[in-house]
Amino acid sequence: MLEIRNLHARIAEDGTEIIRGLNLTVKAGEVAAIMGPNGSGKSTLSYILAGREDYEVTEGDILLDGESILDLDPAERAAKGVFLAFQYPVEIPGVATMQFLKVAMNEQRKARGEDELTTPDFMKRVKAAANELKINPDMLRRPLNVGFSGGEKKRAEILQMSLLEPSLCVLDETDSGLDIDALKIVADGVNALRSPDRAIVVITHYQRLLDYIVPDSVHVLYKGQIIKSGSKELARELEANGYAEIIGQAA
Ligand SMILES: Nc1ncnc2c1ncn2[C@@H]1O[C@H](COP(=O)(O)OP(=O)(O)O)[C@@H](O)[C@H]1O
Ligand SMILES: [Mg+2]
Repeated sequence: MLEIRNLHARIAEDGTEIIRGLNLTVKAGEVAAIMGPNGSGKSTLSYILAGREDYEVTEGDILLDGESILDLDPAERAAKGVFLAFQYPVEIPGVATMQFLKVAMNEQRKARGEDELTTPDFMKRVKAAANELKINPDMLRRPLNVGFSGGEKKRAEILQMSLLEPSLCVLDETDSGLDIDALKIVADGVNALRSPDRAIVVITHYQRLLDYIVPDSVHVLYKGQIIKSGSKELARELEANGYAEIIGQAA
């Protein structure tokens, strides 16, 4: 599903190399967790997966289902089923959440060569998904993310993710200081989205999130490389011993 091969990437503006030979494979049906100390390149990796122009890939490749996505712009990647949930969701004043979802879903369907949803069909899907995520219908009438609480933003994000049916989900939750309720919303949402034809990458600082989302694999990112991979036990080890030991071994 997702295969990152010897990826090197730098900041376009000043040429600083951030990702330095990163290898990672996430199979369909898997949830992979990426952990690592602050500044190791976790968020940068998610931006590069999304195709943000502030970064340049200088070497290596990113393959989705065996095909390179490096030449695709962010919209084309989204059309291929890449969905990124960011630490700081954008606010869209003047556009009701419901309206936003309808446009986003129909764009996605168009890209897949499917018909637009009829309004009743769209309403039915949104209501079912909102109900499952315990989203108050009033929230859907408000502009997307404007004045939403942290927990509401997380719910809106997970709602988008479930309605867009992505094949690769990347969630960057690092440093976002999610409270326990928001953590559970994200975890329940991710668990509900687990599917044999979908790969999920959860970037997190907290081992605690991984008590709720039990990952199939855990990878430690340090200075732009994956320095250790393992099972969910690796996250517990990190919780108990910190990163120092693993960093020492890799050095
Ligand atoms: N656009 C940028 N300009 C300058 N430095 C950047 C930029 N993006 C990332 N960095 C630097 O790259 C490193 C990795 O950052 P980041 O990916 O945010 O780490 P993490 O998410 O693991 O905490 C940090 O040292 C950060 O300061
Ligand atoms: Mg980060």
